Amino acid sequence: MKNELILTRPDDMHLHLRDGDILAAVASYSSRDFGRAIIMPNLVPPVTTVNAALAYRDRVMAVVPATDDFTPMMTLYLTEATNPEEIARGFASGAVKAVKLYPAGATTNSEGGVRDIKKVMPVLEKMAEIGMPLLVHGEVTDPEIDIFDREAVFIDRVLDPVRRALPELRVVMEHVTTKNGVDYVKSADRGLVATLTTHHLILNRNAILAGGIRPHYYCLPVLKREKHRLALRAAAVSADPRFFLGTDSAPHPIFAKESPCGCAGMFTSINTMPILATVFEQEGKLGQLETFTSLNGAAFYGIAPNSAKIRLVKRTRPQIWPNRISAGPDEIMVFDPGFPVFWDLDRHKRPATLQKEATS
Ligand code: NCD
Ligand code: ZN
Repeated sequence: MKNELILTRPDDMHLHLRDGDILAAVASYSSRDFGRAIIMPNLVPPVTTVNAALAYRDRVMAVVPATDDFTPMMTLYLTEATNPEEIARGFASGAVKAVKLYPAGATTNSEGGVRDIKKVMPVLEKMAEIGMPLLVHGEVTDPEIDIFDREAVFIDRVLDPVRRALPELRVVMEHVTTKNGVDYVKSADRGLVATLTTHHLILNRNAILAGGIRPHYYCLPVLKREKHRLALRAAAVSADPRFFLGTDSAPHPIFAKESPCGCAGMFTSINTMPILATVFEQEGKLGQLETFTSLNGAAFYGIAPNSAKIRLVKRTRPQIWPNRISAGPDEIMVFDPGFPVFWDLDRHKRPATLQKEATS
């Protein structure tokens, strides 16, 4: 049985770092384990301009330890007032990698998002022309649509028509949660990929509701039925270049989750890599972990894989993480996968040494 794994340092292609105390509390968990991350723009107020994205990048880098080799890849929040020239300027500068579409009201801080997709067509046309990726929160917000069906309906009502109108547009279906989403991505021969989160590979909707209501397993898009979880797992371990890791690590203070109207999101960046090694091992596909976490995402964004390596070691005892971390006056719950995790990321060896070992 394999008990050591050396792989290219991974990237997290969908990450919420927040701002202020929470940013200061969580950033180093991403920067220690990931080379790059696509940083979500759903702050208050949202990151809608290139200057705001650059200022946010500076705030991120100010709290990343100087010894960590970490690059935040910034995104802009699409609104019905977004100027096509502004996003093109950001993309040309190299600082802004993508634009994020939140249907208004779909999730945390999405109120400034898009109500009528027709209003943003000039921006999407510009993005198709310059090859700038559109990152999609793929859920309709129509109150008549059941929350468990909102991803499938979004594909039919919004995403497919947009892709037909703009076949050159490069789209990432963020945090795909259904078999419908996986099948839709697989049906596209170009211009469509998907990120998969850690938690959707592990949990189905029973985790939120069976035996008691568990707000720390509430996220958006909401966890789905078991058949969907199995489809996501199959896609993750398949080595299909259209699927890659975006943790969607989304920290909220515990009080905001344990509330009559709790916030959506789980904080997973702290333990994602050991957990994913366990998932891939359970699937008998440890050899595909690197493709999913370190190669496919970079290829989509047109960047070389990180040159550093990481080493995962299987220990004889399960890993123990803090069950919560402090963030200013508040605390954030750490994701509990619900099974023992024997894999551990060995952070004691210098990446340069590992690089030599891996290539010799
Ligand atoms: C995210 C957040 O809190 O910002 N929440 C979540 O459950 N994933 C927003 C999002 O990605 O939908
Ligand atoms: Zn997210």
